[in-house]
Amino acid sequence: MNVVLVGCGAMSRQWLDAARQIDGLAIVGLVDLDAERAKARAREYDLASAVIGTSLDAVLDQTRPDAVFDVVVPAARREVAFSAFAHNCHLLTEKPLADSPENARAIIEAARRAERIHAVVQNRRYVANVRRIRRFLDSGAIGAATSIHADFFVAPHFGGFREEMAHVLLLDMAIHTFDAARYMAAGEPSSVYCQEWEPANSWYRQGSSASAVIDFGSGKVFTYAGSWCADGFRTSWEGSWRIVAERGSLIWDGHDGLKAEVVASGRDGLIDKTQPIDVPPLDPADRIGGHLGIIRDFMHAIETGNEPETRGADNIKSLAMVFGAIESAETGRRVAITAQDEK
Ligand SMILES: NC(=O)c1ccc[n+]([C@@H]2O[C@H](COP(=O)([O-])OP(=O)(O)OC[C@H]3O[C@@H](n4cnc5c(N)ncnc54)[C@H](O)[C@@H]3O)[C@@H](O)[C@H]2O)c1
Repeated sequence: MNVVLVGCGAMSRQWLDAARQIDGLAIVGLVDLDAERAKARAREYDLASAVIGTSLDAVLDQTRPDAVFDVVVPAARREVAFSAFAHNCHLLTEKPLADSPENARAIIEAARRAERIHAVVQNRRYVANVRRIRRFLDSGAIGAATSIHADFFVAPHFGGFREEMAHVLLLDMAIHTFDAARYMAAGEPSSVYCQEWEPANSWYRQGSSASAVIDFGSGKVFTYAGSWCADGFRTSWEGSWRIVAERGSLIWDGHDGLKAEVVASGRDGLIDKTQPIDVPPLDPADRIGGHLGIIRDFMHAIETGNEPETRGADNIKSLAMVFGAIESAETGRRVAITAQDEK
């Protein structure tokens, strides 16, 4: 499979590290508005024969690849997607799928019309403990989940586009946590209330801290508390989780610490006794591996014609949680999350 990668900034390394582990995948072009960045990546990854350019259209005309890997900033997502589909390419795109609901719908519609595979690197789903939690909850070992709580507190100094963009935590990071919550609890998001604020010490323009309550249907509620400028006691990039179910609870620190307790017989005073219960190990059928796992699934989808797990038409349901939260934060009102059913 011949691929052109567009957007040779920080994240492109992760993609190129993964791509070089895959037999049968050739990077035939590297594009960036800043040609020096594309040239630097070509040198770093021994891609001497790759066509280098600053215009995606021009490099696609010249190389005629099967697919485009989109690693540009969110604001450029739509123009990249339209260029890829116009050149009859499949498209694997970094998160978030788009920077607005209109652009998300337009990109998905363009993929449908072009009959091309379109998938999103929602890589926090391709994490072993996320897969284990989903299977454990599905097994009914602690009953159905009722309350899903995630904390995300990290204080990175990225520089660049994040410090200038609006709704930075919700749009650039919470999409990972929201998607993981929707996946682990098999949630069907229906409404959201959210507040954003800017702590006095924030180095972001807008929206570095947010708290959201999202209704997941079937009696399930997801709460999110997050900040991108909270120094001290940082959480993992996956967040820190407590999932309460009908007959027990599960706690995951976002690293290796995953444990659960189930209700046992008898009471200690006012409180039902509980006992530890094992969360089974990863099932061999569960797909993991972050960017590498997603790129492999994307290629497999192209080869077989099956839709990949993180296809845009499904990922837009997680993005709808983000845009609902943004609208709620802007209006101060609870917002209905519009069903984005796959057609
Ligand atoms: N999946 C993850 O875990 C993860 C982690 C970090 C970043 N990301 C995402 O990756 C994407 C890129 O982030 P980054 O940190 O590499 O940003 P970055 O600013 O370091 O790099 C983006 C690059 O895209 C280029 N670019 C912008 N518009 C372009 C266009 N129209 N045509 C060609 N090139 C263009 C810029 O010149 C820049 O070199 C973002 O969407 C970000 O949210 C994902």
